[in-house]
Amino acid sequence: MRAYVITTTDAEGYPVGVTASSFNSVSLEPTLVLWSIDKGANSHETFENAEYFAVNVLASDQVSTSNNFTSRGQYKFANAQYSPGLGNTPIFDHYAAQFECKTWAVYEGGDH
Ligand SMILES: Cc1cc2nc3c(=O)[nH]c(=O)nc-3n(C[C@H](O)[C@H](O)[C@H](O)COP(=O)(O)O)c2cc1C
Repeated sequence: MRAYVITTTDAEGYPVGVTASSFNSVSLEPTLVLWSIDKGANSHETFENAEYFAVNVLASDQVSTSNNFTSRGQYKFANAQYSPGLGNTPIFDHYAAQFECKTWAVYEGGDH
């Protein structure tokens, strides 16, 4: 199964990230993607308000990175190597593919 870590920056400028399997394509023109954040996640509000976010598609040797970003807490980035992307969003230095995104719309759907 392909793993994705969605990243952004919170209001204080700290990096935020979650492993998500819900990433998917929506449209070619305009180019749109989607993913779903659990309303119960600590980072829910941050992602809901984020102007920019990134989708880091992990490579097969990044299982530990995927596991790190399923945890709930502030130290997910302790062992991560990343650089500032659009809107200062942290983008991983190592990845299989990467999308730097600007939020187009936020929709509520059940508990996500
Ligand atoms: C395989 C897998 C896929 C996941 N996909 C999602 C997802 O699509 N959306 C989501 O909100 N959480 C997903 N999670 C759970 C989050 O990774 C986890 O709850 C998150 O890191 C919580 O971070 P936070 O509470 O610090 O924001 C997934 C977990 C695993 C193990």
